[in-house]
Amino acid sequence: LFGFNTNRVSGYFEPIAPSKEDQLLLPKNFKYDVVAAFDDVINEAGEKFGSGCDYNAFFPLKGSNVRGLLVNNHEYSTIFSIGPVKDGKMTADQLHKNLYYQGMSVIEVYRDEKGTWKMDKTSSYARRINGFTKFDLTGPAKGSTAVGGATTAVGTFANCSGGVTLWNTVLSCEENFAETAAASKLPETHYGWVVEVDPFDKSYLKKHTALGRFNHENTAMGLAPDGRVVVYMGDDKKDACIYKFISKGKFDKLKGRANSALLEDGTLYVANLKSGKWMPVTLAEVTKAAKDKPEVLSKFKTQGDVVTFCQEAALLVGGTPTDRPEDIEISPFDNTVFICHTNNDNHGNIHGHITRIFESNSDLGALEFDFEIFAAGGRQSGFSSPDNLAFDSNGHLWVVTDISSSSQNKGVHKSFMNNGLFVIPTSGPDQAMALQFASAPIESELTGPFFTPDEQTLFLSVQHPGENTSDLSKPSSLWPHRAGDKKARCAVVAISGFKLG
Ligand code: FEO
Ligand code: CA
Ligand code: CA
Ligand code: CA
Repeated sequence: LFGFNTNRVSGYFEPIAPSKEDQLLLPKNFKYDVVAAFDDVINEAGEKFGSGCDYNAFFPLKGSNVRGLLVNNHEYSTIFSIGPVKDGKMTADQLHKNLYYQGMSVIEVYRDEKGTWKMDKTSSYARRINGFTKFDLTGPAKGSTAVGGATTAVGTFANCSGGVTLWNTVLSCEENFAETAAASKLPETHYGWVVEVDPFDKSYLKKHTALGRFNHENTAMGLAPDGRVVVYMGDDKKDACIYKFISKGKFDKLKGRANSALLEDGTLYVANLKSGKWMPVTLAEVTKAAKDKPEVLSKFKTQGDVVTFCQEAALLVGGTPTDRPEDIEISPFDNTVFICHTNNDNHGNIHGHITRIFESNSDLGALEFDFEIFAAGGRQSGFSSPDNLAFDSNGHLWVVTDISSSSQNKGVHKSFMNNGLFVIPTSGPDQAMALQFASAPIESELTGPFFTPDEQTLFLSVQHPGENTSDLSKPSSLWPHRAGDKKARCAVVAISGFKLG
């Protein structure tokens, strides 16, 4: 048995073995309920749950651990949501569905008296946010030439991971936006941002350009000792950088959601792993770095240009290219910062690793740091290709893996079998060893682990089961195996433990 002393999900469990089954497998004494699956009706207006479930965030209603709002990201459409795309060109109907099914859902969930988690479709909060929803731009790119002078943007899509703010809203990250923007002939510079939504307020929709535009994976928000807000972000692309944004102003709890203005004014930094310095991604620094390159200088005239063409600017000012930085979490115990580098076959990092950053004096606002490779993927540690992270109150990291469907169950990935959810202690005798908690259905990855405050329930997404299916009459997965259903569906599940003796 691994773990501690309660009947929380984060308590005892007996690690499971890797599996190739088309099932979501859990340790003995744990069960899951499918809370919402692709295309399920979520509210009385008849809106439908989206495709490609990723990030989850649970917001208790009236402090409850058994009723709340669940915000879920929808990263992309699949053959099961829009059907096969012929010759790489979507029909008008497919283009519509592609925008409709991406974005986010806000749903209301509750645990009934029998202990089963369900969606409450009568909820007045339940709604979709998608490729047709209008957002206000904030920050340096708002109204700038880089975004065609726009002060608003229509739609969000490719919503991957995210984070919760200190003022009870959600940040959602636009990751691989280019394909959808191109297919729907939408202006590319309106996507690739961090968006903010308030699950309790339909009218509150923002894209914060001060946080830069790249292949945003996630946000992890913390506070510097002086009260400035710090946001860590990964750019999930091969040879891309790690960022942090530090607000100019200070957090004031009494101001509630008005603290969101802190995300409009501050400095964006990129990590230089050689010098251990956070380098400012500012017009002044870009101008200095490119002073002998007129063709580069001509691209960067304002801070709006810098944040919009952030990947290029970051490399100019000394950002270190890394191996696909995905999710980031700040340890609630010691303020060290954990970063998943999922993998990068450009230079043989096949199994990926988890980096741990030690900020100077444990100050999240510091501009100098040290780091270590906390855990390396591979046979010894027991995991490959780490992606999303969550901490539990025992100080354990919960890590999901993202071995691509084309690599799964073959070659050097054979022993890992399907993707999974692992628990990695950050101290003690099992430090950096992965203990498997869940095994994913065929050709899927598990995403968006998020605990209720009492840790009795873990929300988790099952993303793209059967994603290599090319013929709808021969789906490679049928998870969640609904009676009579002929397709695989991505879904959010609630995992809970049976009362342990
Ligand atoms: Fe959407 Fe980087 O995973
Ligand atoms: Ca991810
Ligand atoms: Ca991934
Ligand atoms: Ca993914």
